[in-house]
Amino acid sequence: MKKTLNIAHRGLSGLYPENTMLAFEKAIEVGCDGIEIDVQLTKDGYAVICHDEELNRTTTGKGFIKDHMLEELMQLDAGIKFGEKFKGLRIPTFDEFLEYVSDKDLLINIEIKNSIIDYENIEKIIYALISKHHIEDKVIISSFNHYSIRRCIRLARNIKTGLLYGDCIFEPYNYVQMVGANALHPEYNSVTKEIVERSHDNNLEVNIYTVNDEKDMKKMIDLGVDAIITNYPNLLKELL
Ligand code: G3P
Ligand code: MG
Repeated sequence: MKKTLNIAHRGLSGLYPENTMLAFEKAIEVGCDGIEIDVQLTKDGYAVICHDEELNRTTTGKGFIKDHMLEELMQLDAGIKFGEKFKGLRIPTFDEFLEYVSDKDLLINIEIKNSIIDYENIEKIIYALISKHHIEDKVIISSFNHYSIRRCIRLARNIKTGLLYGDCIFEPYNYVQMVGANALHPEYNSVTKEIVERSHDNNLEVNIYTVNDEKDMKKMIDLGVDAIITNYPNLLKELL
């Protein structure tokens, strides 16, 4: 059986402010195999790394990312809401993150956050930067917006894609093949042995989110999933 990969969800986000360069550095330090990030677009069309469409929860800003210019976002603090000692961290741009990981042996899971706001041209903007940094073979793009994944597949068939979903889809391996993606990205509670086996029979990966508890991690490793996306890559590293 292939080794299960350890993917840091928004970096080492259990212990550091999510989706910041510090959380990515710390995830690498504990030996993760990959990093998952969330990408949104600014008003002036720059790709930035942030989970929420709005700035309020994780930064000192207010309102939607789509209503702010990049320059304004760069003035915000993306660390202090997690803890005073993290004051001074910035929202990373997608470009600077790719620059940082381009020479590292990591799998990069780029989640396009476009289910709530269907950002115009986000797929093209993301693909242009992947191409700029020559990391086509290291990335897998995922989204809960499966129309967006179809647009990705049309843009470049050499870049892997995965379909994110949260509920119990019937025979998801058939659905994923119908869309033309390479992987299932299910919420872990919906995953069964049969789903993993049938996916593998059809050359599809099963990359699950978000597993933070040791007992669940062990269960998922035993099921033979390809990757576990976790807020605690440090904990998963010990188990693998
Ligand atoms: O990509 C896996 C996971 O990140 C999907 O959900 O809301 O944490 O981005 P969310
Ligand atoms: Mg995500």
